[in-house]
Amino acid sequence: MRAFRNRPGHLSDKKVMATFVKILVIVFLCEAAVMVILHVSGLRGLWNIVLDPFFLSVLSTPLLYRVIVKPVRDALEERKQAERNLYGYQERLRSLASEISKTEEQTRRKIAVELHDNIGHNLTITKMKTETLLEELANTEYSGSVNEIVDSIIKSIKDVSSFTFELSPAILYESGLDAAVEWLAGQFEEQSGITCCFNGDGQDKTLSNDLQVLLFRCIKELLTNIRKHAQAKMVSVTAGKDSTGYRITVEDDGIGFDLSSINSRKDGVGGFGLFSISERLKYQGGSIEIESQLQKGTRITLIVPIACLELNS
Ligand SMILES: Nc1ncnc2c1ncn2[C@@H]1O[C@H](COP(=O)(O)OP(=O)(O)O)[C@@H](O)[C@H]1O
Ligand SMILES: [Mg+2]
Repeated sequence: MRAFRNRPGHLSDKKVMATFVKILVIVFLCEAAVMVILHVSGLRGLWNIVLDPFFLSVLSTPLLYRVIVKPVRDALEERKQAERNLYGYQERLRSLASEISKTEEQTRRKIAVELHDNIGHNLTITKMKTETLLEELANTEYSGSVNEIVDSIIKSIKDVSSFTFELSPAILYESGLDAAVEWLAGQFEEQSGITCCFNGDGQDKTLSNDLQVLLFRCIKELLTNIRKHAQAKMVSVTAGKDSTGYRITVEDDGIGFDLSSINSRKDGVGGFGLFSISERLKYQGGSIEIESQLQKGTRITLIVPIACLELNS
């Protein structure tokens, strides 16, 4: 809130009062100048030069205050209050978005664990039993049908496994961010046909679990964007920690985009992915840097400053 009050361009009460005093001094000096002219022309006595402007200024002070200063001050106070409310509202929305993301992540994890431990486990046992049955029924009229059942179970096991990973990759929780992004890059390359390499410095263990999950989701969104919009041939993802903080850079050689166009879209279509990354990072004290050049590619850097890493650990 203090940073908000000290924002450049913000008009404080002191500035309003100083302006008011300046107006009074100017009024006084103008009146005095007029009186001097009147005196020199012989139209006024010496005393009037000092007294008239003084009394005029004193008499006009309450009027000036009521007509100019008070309405301006009231309007400024109203605006200050509205800005304070907006600022508080924004903070609460950010906090809400962060809580919703955390809850979503927990629910994803819960469903993934249930799927793996129950359905996945049961399917594996069913497959083993059906394979035993297949051995017993070998060379009988049933072997073909039982074989088809085994194939179908194997397909279901694969489907459950990939859906479980899609929901919440166990590798992220078991082996950390670097391993999960390595896996994600492989998946991305396989599904999109775009070459994707990952370079991590192994410092992911210094991040809290929440930050690792948040950064993983952000990288996933950035890779989805590349697939959807970039027409790229090569993508590189680098992650590492230096003295200033933890940085993840996702770079592509695609068609790039005009940054100003996404901020000025009036139709409200699109722009939610990058906005959501930015808001969620801001809530953790981090930020996003976007550099893009048409026909040259895009580089997006996610930054978590060192102070926030220590706070989150
Ligand atoms: N890597 C990229 N290459 C080219 N354009 C991109 C890239 N990433 C984002 N964009 C542009 O930025 C816009 C905003 O992205 P985003 O906020 O994720 O919204 P959405 O993906 O829903 O359109 C996209 O519509 C696209 O025009
Ligand atoms: Mg998107």
